[in-house]
Amino acid sequence: MRSLIVTGGAGFIGANFVHYWSNRYPEDRIVVLDALTYAGNQASLESVQDRPNFRFVHGNILDRTLIAKLMREESTDTIVHFAAESHVDRSIHEPDAFIQTNVIGTHNLLMAARELWLDSDDAPATHRFHHVSTDEVYGSLGVDDPAFTEQTPYAPNSPYAASKASSDHLVRAYHHTYGLEVTTSNCSNNYGPYQFPEKLIPLMIVNALTGQPLPVYGDGSNIRDWLYVEDHCRGIDLVIGKGKLGATYNIGGNNERRNIDIVRQVCAGLDRIFAENEKLSDRFPDAPAASGRKTESLITFVKDRPGHDWRYAIDATLATEELGYAPRQSFETGIRLTLNWMLENEHWWRAVMDGSYREWISKNYSDNA
Ligand code: NAD
Ligand code: TYD
Repeated sequence: MRSLIVTGGAGFIGANFVHYWSNRYPEDRIVVLDALTYAGNQASLESVQDRPNFRFVHGNILDRTLIAKLMREESTDTIVHFAAESHVDRSIHEPDAFIQTNVIGTHNLLMAARELWLDSDDAPATHRFHHVSTDEVYGSLGVDDPAFTEQTPYAPNSPYAASKASSDHLVRAYHHTYGLEVTTSNCSNNYGPYQFPEKLIPLMIVNALTGQPLPVYGDGSNIRDWLYVEDHCRGIDLVIGKGKLGATYNIGGNNERRNIDIVRQVCAGLDRIFAENEKLSDRFPDAPAASGRKTESLITFVKDRPGHDWRYAIDATLATEELGYAPRQSFETGIRLTLNWMLENEHWWRAVMDGSYREWISKNYSDNA
């Protein structure tokens, strides 16, 4: 039986991971440590909230005393570290929070882990620090470049990517210098339930349902590899269970697509679902599909993101060969699951979008169109 601290467990991937892990390993203790920034929502953990071996702690990874206290109290033997500032556009406008949480916060966790797991008499028999990172640390690819492997040199371009690269290096250094038992996974763009509607896919869905423009940056030709979040959680499980200590694994979805094609696919999916279910037109009267218009009519090309990376692509051969990793969802099945989830969970996305997010968007994006 493990005793886990999941940092950032009220965020998008963290919450999905908590659901995944508590179903797969119901005997394990899970403590979520989350500062509940604009991106963190306890509502995303509602279904596990009352389980006896689940605990939610509202706290910050910048608070080292709290981390150390929690680890002792819970006899933590596994940290799965998701907590981060995660949105590239925000990192362009307000990079400081990214350095604080992603770099200093990660280092706080490493220091606390080292103290309890390596330098104390109360150390558990085995331990693991799993660090969740991103393909953005590798920089941008050209059209003919091979996909990122674990050997691709780091070349982060945004403050977000640079802060994640820095945290990856710290995790690596704690293994090589002190012998801390770490693993790292670098994954591609996730999508699925509980994703905050500032990232491409949920933003497009919410805007389409509420009849607002669908802002595509530049000409929409930028390419990302899309990974259904549950496949990512399974990949992390495999790395924690079978990964080599000190190793890094790339986790991808085998789904390279242009942004404009993603947006068109979301639009076509909504058109189809509205045609199949006429009640949706009453629930979402402002959606173009409610009055028989194409959702695509909302697509609006806007000013490009500064320093916008053109292409990301993941080569997950190592994870496939060493761990048996393979994504189960194609983009077609994953996007249908996501659209259905968003339609069934309107209360969730309406609640998380109240307040600060809207204010921030209007302050920073009023000149976008
Ligand atoms: P998210 O922004 O949805 O959630 C981040 C969570 O961390 C939130 O619950 C937030 O409250 C919490 N948090 C932020 N600062 C904190 C702090 N100082 N102390 C404690 N908690 C804090 O992020 P996500 O999309 O779920 O991403 C999770 C991890 O996966 C991140 O490390 C991110 O870099 C990485 N990642 C995400 C993607 C993606 O497509 N979303 C892709 C690759 C890697
Ligand atoms: P995003 O979801 O922010 O993830 P990341 O920047 O980490 O890849 O963006 C995915 C892609 O979609 C990226 O190329 C930027 C683009 N994009 C838009 O075109 N419009 C938008 O409103 C957003 C949020 C993103």
